[in-house]
Amino acid sequence: MGENRKLTITVKTFFGLEQVLVEELAELGFSKTTVLNRAVQLEGTWRDVYFLNLHLRCAVSVLVMVKSFRINREGDLYKEALKIDWPSFFSLDKTFAVKGAVFSDLFRHTGYPYLVIKDAIADTFRKKFDDRPNVNVKSPQVMFDVYIKHKEVTISLNTSGAPLFKRGYREGVGDAPLNEAVAAGLIRMSGWDKKSTFVDPFCGSGTLLIEAALMAAGLPAQLERQHYAFKNFANFDADLWESLLNDIPKRVTELPCEIIGSDMSAEMVTKARRNLRRLPIGRFVKTSVDAFSEVKKPSESGVMISNPPYGERMGEEVEEMYEEIGDWMKSEMTGFNCWIISSNMEAFKRLGLRPDKKVRLYNGDLECSFRKFSVYEGSKKAKYQS
Ligand SMILES: C[S@@+](CC[C@H](N)C(=O)[O-])C[C@H]1O[C@@H](n2cnc3c(N)ncnc32)[C@H](O)[C@@H]1O
Repeated sequence: MGENRKLTITVKTFFGLEQVLVEELAELGFSKTTVLNRAVQLEGTWRDVYFLNLHLRCAVSVLVMVKSFRINREGDLYKEALKIDWPSFFSLDKTFAVKGAVFSDLFRHTGYPYLVIKDAIADTFRKKFDDRPNVNVKSPQVMFDVYIKHKEVTISLNTSGAPLFKRGYREGVGDAPLNEAVAAGLIRMSGWDKKSTFVDPFCGSGTLLIEAALMAAGLPAQLERQHYAFKNFANFDADLWESLLNDIPKRVTELPCEIIGSDMSAEMVTKARRNLRRLPIGRFVKTSVDAFSEVKKPSESGVMISNPPYGERMGEEVEEMYEEIGDWMKSEMTGFNCWIISSNMEAFKRLGLRPDKKVRLYNGDLECSFRKFSVYEGSKKAKYQS
């Protein structure tokens, strides 16, 4: 499969997670990276592509560049696309789709370039085999990503397929689950050392607890995921993939820290437990049904990361609750670095604590702020007004 050929790899992520993705890549041994908008680019081999799909926690998808070229008019796109050896990427029996993003005046309809490339793919196959592969827009086995900015076109293979935040461990979710890649990004941003206590008193279906536990155990985020688009490619090297899977630790005997979650909803805690049980770290994570106000500090210091109800999405009045959360943090969480993600800026003010840090990011479509509050003895008396 040309194992050592250098490929241009683009790792896509969410707005605001680019820097943590760069750090994550560096930790995995990829220090030569370029930051793009909602993506990070690097060079690597097919082995690296498999490895990144398996191990990256803050990524949405891993793309491999097929071709990059310049066009001057609409018609150039088909001509250039016909020069690509499409059957070298996948076979007739696989379904495919073409998606992406177009920012160009050359096309009147942004969806049109995808149709042009789809036609070029179908025509190339027809010419060679007198037959063409089927399109499946919803769940294609092979997906091409087209990015057009003005006259510059980049066509890539999406090697992940379904986004990488679909980890495969989630059976039950609540109304407002945190995206898994965002959860991993938040934990990384918090600077948690994977040794000190980690708590989430609004754990819901357990996303933050699970991502933290996987990190602490050194297990890949995608431990339970079976689907990867690269398995459908013509060059799929099953032995190479198997060897990467064999490198994953088989057993976890303990975690180097305490990870503790609670939620006032018994139904949510049941979901969290069910999700946790699917993973080898499940039995090391403590969960309980408790309102946050009942939660006692489990150790002298540690990190709390939580996404309490935002109000907007679940239709509740939450501002008063944030005032109570602030009071509880001041009396119960001294010595902890407490991080809260919320889209409710008014409610944040009601915490009555001055944030040390604010990061803007998105949870799904919702613009959120992720804020750090260091709670010391003395925070109790201070009443921060913003
Ligand atoms: C936005 S959801 C958290 C989602 C979670 N991060 C996940 O990924 O599933 C907020 C959670 O806060 C819980 N909750 C609401 N009020 C609470 C309270 N007073 N004490 C503890 N948990 C509460 C809800 O049951 C809900 O599960």
